[in-house]
Order: sequence, then C-alpha cells, then structure tokens
Amino acid sequence: MGTQRDLMELAKRRGFFFGSNGAYGGTAGFYTFGPEGAALKHNVESAWRDQFTVRLGNDEIEAPTIMPEAVFEASGHLDGFDDMLVECAECGTSHRADHLIEDAVDEIEDAEALGSKKVGDLIAEHDLACPTCGASLAGEPVEDFNLMFETSIGPGTGQPGYMRPETAQGIFVEFPRLKEYARGQLPFGVTQIGTAYRNEISPRRGIIRVREFTQAELEQFIDPKEDEPPLGEVEDVAVTLYPATEQHDADGDYLTTTIGEAVEKEVIGSPWVAYFMGVAQGWYERVGVDMDRFRFRQHLAGERAHYAADCWDAESEIDGNWIEIAGFAYRSDYDLLKHGAYAEDRFTVFKRYDEPVTVEKAVVDPDMSALGPEFGGTASDIAAALEALADADPDAFDGDEVTVDVDGERYSVDTDVANFAVETQTEAGEHITPHVVEPSFGVGRTVYTLLEHGYREDEVDGETRTYLSLAPEIAPTTVAVFPLVSNDDALVDVATDISRTLRQAGVSVSYDDSGSIGRRYRRQDEVGTPFCVTVDQDGLEGDGQNTVTLRERDSAAQIRLPLDRVADEIAALVADEQTFDELHGRYSAVDTDVTAA
Ligand code: GLY
Repeated sequence: MGTQRDLMELAKRRGFFFGSNGAYGGTAGFYTFGPEGAALKHNVESAWRDQFTVRLGNDEIEAPTIMPEAVFEASGHLDGFDDMLVECAECGTSHRADHLIEDAVDEIEDAEALGSKKVGDLIAEHDLACPTCGASLAGEPVEDFNLMFETSIGPGTGQPGYMRPETAQGIFVEFPRLKEYARGQLPFGVTQIGTAYRNEISPRRGIIRVREFTQAELEQFIDPKEDEPPLGEVEDVAVTLYPATEQHDADGDYLTTTIGEAVEKEVIGSPWVAYFMGVAQGWYERVGVDMDRFRFRQHLAGERAHYAADCWDAESEIDGNWIEIAGFAYRSDYDLLKHGAYAEDRFTVFKRYDEPVTVEKAVVDPDMSALGPEFGGTASDIAAALEALADADPDAFDGDEVTVDVDGERYSVDTDVANFAVETQTEAGEHITPHVVEPSFGVGRTVYTLLEHGYREDEVDGETRTYLSLAPEIAPTTVAVFPLVSNDDALVDVATDISRTLRQAGVSVSYDDSGSIGRRYRRQDEVGTPFCVTVDQDGLEGDGQNTVTLRERDSAAQIRLPLDRVADEIAALVADEQTFDELHGRYSAVDTDVTAA
C-alpha cells in the first residue's frame, strides 16, 4: 500500500487523472481523466451498467444536465441543498465549517448532523483558526451555502436554470412518461449514468470531493404496501454494518451480520434498501474493492438529505479515512409527491384492483347560480375547495353551513348550496404515488478506491516495482503485446499480428516495442495491465515454434503457450472462468521476467 501522495503522483504521471485547466493556473474541484483513467472509469461504468441495468432488468435513460428552476423548487434543492460555510474575515477564504470541526475534534465524525448554530459555537469553543492564514474564526457566522451552480437558459436574462446536483431529478421529472414505458406496472427501475455538479465550498482530496462528477443512479419505483425485493438472492451476503445506534454509543462497534439477518432484526429498516446493499456488495467485490476496507454506515438523523427517510452509505477506507462511495436512500414518496404538486402531469400510477369495489363517496355539486352572485371571481375556487373538503372530511357538511379556506381567506357557504350527497360508486382501482428506493454511486470515488486498494509495491528480480492490482474486467488495458526486441522483423510481425487478432476479438491491447522488456513490463504493471504477451526467438523456432509467453501482473509469473491458444485463454481469464494458477498446470513455466533484452 502506498501513501495518497504516491498514488496522486502515479495518477498524474501515468495519465489516470490530473487537475484540469493547468495551462490557466488550474481550477479547484475539476479533474480531467487522462487516457488510462478514462478507460478505467469507462470500464467501471460498463460493469455498473451490466449489474444495475442489465442484470436487474432495468431501463437506462440519458437526461439533460441543465434543468429549469421550477424542478429544483419542487425537489427541495433550492431550499435545502446547503453546506455550512464560514468565511475568514482576515483573508476572505471560505471553508466548510463542519469539516473544520471534524478535523479539529477527534470525537466528532459528523458535524453536519449538529446544525450550523452548534457548529458555530464549537468553532468559538475550540478557537479554530483559518487553515489558510491562521486568523481566528471564533465568532464568524456559519451560514448555509446552496451548492447548485446557477445558469441562464436562452439569451438575455433567459430562464433561470441549474446544473443538476444529482442525476436522479432527470428520472423523476420524466416519471409520467417512464411509467408508460413500464406499462404502468410497479415495481420498475430506471438507471442513469451521468454528470452532476455541486459548487463545493472547499473541494479537496483529489477526485474525492470535486465540483463536477459522475453518478450512476438507480431509481426503483415500488408500491410500498405490496412490492417486495427478491431478498433471497442476497440474504446470505455477509456485511459489515455501522448502524446509527452504534455511532451514538461511545462503545459502539461494527455489526458483522448477513443481509437476511439485518432485515429480520430490523437493523436495516427497508428490505429494498437491504436488497440493493447486498447486490452492491457483490458488485464492489467483483470490480476489486478490498472487502476488509469496506463497510456500510447508516446516516445519522441530522446528516440525511432532505428527501431521505433513511439512508446507508457504502464507505471505503482510504489512507485511514472512510469515504462515501455510494448511498442507499429510502426516498419514500417525497419526490413524486413534490413534482406532482408543482408540475402539470400525474406522478402516480393507476393500481387496478383484482375485482372492482363498490365504495361510498362523498360528492358536492355546488350551485354556481348562488355562489357566483355572492362570491364573484372567487366562486369557482370556492367550489373546488368544497369538492376537496367533501373528499377529505365529509362530516364538515353535517351543519347548516360549511367553511372553506381559499388563498388564506375563510368563506362560509350554506350546506344546501353545496349540494352535498353520498353516492355509491364502483371503482376499478386507485391512483397511488410510488415510493422510491435509490442506490446512488459515485463513479470517480469508486475509481479512486480501486486505485488505492489496488496500489502495491514489491520486489521483482531484485528491483522494487509498483503495480496496480486491478481486476481484468476493470483494468484500462487488458493485454500488452511486445516483440522481445524491436529490430527483429519476424518478432514484430508476429506481435503485430497477435495485437490485431486480440483487438478484433474485442480485447483492449497496448502494443509496445520501445525500451527494454523489463521497463515495458514495469510500465504495464504501473497502469494495472493484467497480462503481457511477449514474442521471443524461442517462440519462432525449434521446440517452442509458434509459442509466446504470457505473464500475469501480480505474480510476475510467466508460462509459454501456443500462439493459437492466446486469445481463448485470455478471454477465459478475463471472464474469471479460470485462474492463472490453473494455466500453470497446463503449460510450461518460464522461469523469470525476460529482462535480458
Ligand atoms: N441522488 C443522491 C445524491 O445525489 O446524493
């Protein structure tokens, strides 16, 4: 395991990621994924799509990243999507107030849950200084800072819009259409992989806290009364949980349990949330997260987003700190009710009963010839209020007069004028607002975790080497192909041919003929290429004719195998259908790294 500095240095040198706009002095909170990083990120996204869209039978959409203000008024982000800001009076630098407290006070892990007043008090109590200039921050106001980037849609003053702070809203606003594609049947899930934006007060720690990032989100729409997840598929998955109760307890500890038991004992309140946590753990294992450095932590009450009734984070350990890499939120009917109230479309599904049912329904038929002269322009609003009241509280029509509120004013109406009646009606079903369960993954943070957890140093042939132990499915390049030396046409021809064949088979290949073979192996080790194929003289003549060597990254071990077996054996290794050790049993070993050339 290297330090975070080693990894950042490697990431920049080998083209995984680096701060953006360096030629213009850099822009904090923005990172560019270089060739290796973009390939790695793409592979993580593909693996996510394979699990959460294809294997779970969901549909994927791609929505715009800019949305009008009304969307965020409805979603609650305009009002509630804030972080705590404290500004230094001396140098003017802005800081995340809750992070200052967490950094300064060992016992406080989640200052956000304490609220801005308490955080302000704690800054004063601990006499915290500005990390930039050292001036005291005691007494400086702690304010709520909205994290959305504002923009303007169209020329001139345009229409106010915002860069979406979560991809989820692009799914929620299209619910009226998406439910049609799902034939109105719950449960159904919609996924999206895309960019989200948050104007972080103090972006930090490389690509961990940035202002533009990629999310992979699944919004699962369910009928909370009837739909159950296929929990049996994950009930035996062993998990490390850190429930809120344990976080509150000074002697609190992790709970090692299974998904099934956690649901049975109601440690995880929603079986749907538990189901997705189980699926996610399997996926994280598949892509190469170190399960000894992975846990699920429940949000404390004050930490939950404004839309979440409950939330668990998947967290990975990075350099001694835990970072959130995914959230599993029970969003209830919050989002669809809000959009239903603000927008014009219906954000419900019609749930047909098994058999039509007969119901007694309170109705009114207001006499407009009486309401009109008495209430003028307000008469139709009063009629609508009477209809709503009949539905909500039929007893209100028991007396001689009935009172309704319209725009904050109270109006009394003769009950006779309302024409109240109770009718018997036959109903085929009802409109219900689905609940939403949301697994939401940070792609960049997953990439960072894979690099951190895969970073290794060891000794090969007496030399220290650095390598990234990335899963073959995820590694930026699957196979590197080398002619042992570049000035031998026969070797170059065969190596070029192998590269072409593998690429045609859909394998990502790096062809490299520059420098010593030892250096070429090291270069591939550092970018996590799991396999190297080398064409040498022994493979062109004598007993070994038509053979190549195949080297595995982590062990640096090599075998010699026939040329015509290379593509199939590599495909089976990548698909996890065999291990390199198993190949050792079938082919002859080559003693060492071929470093002679
Ligand atoms: N959609 C969850 C989040 O953005 O955090």
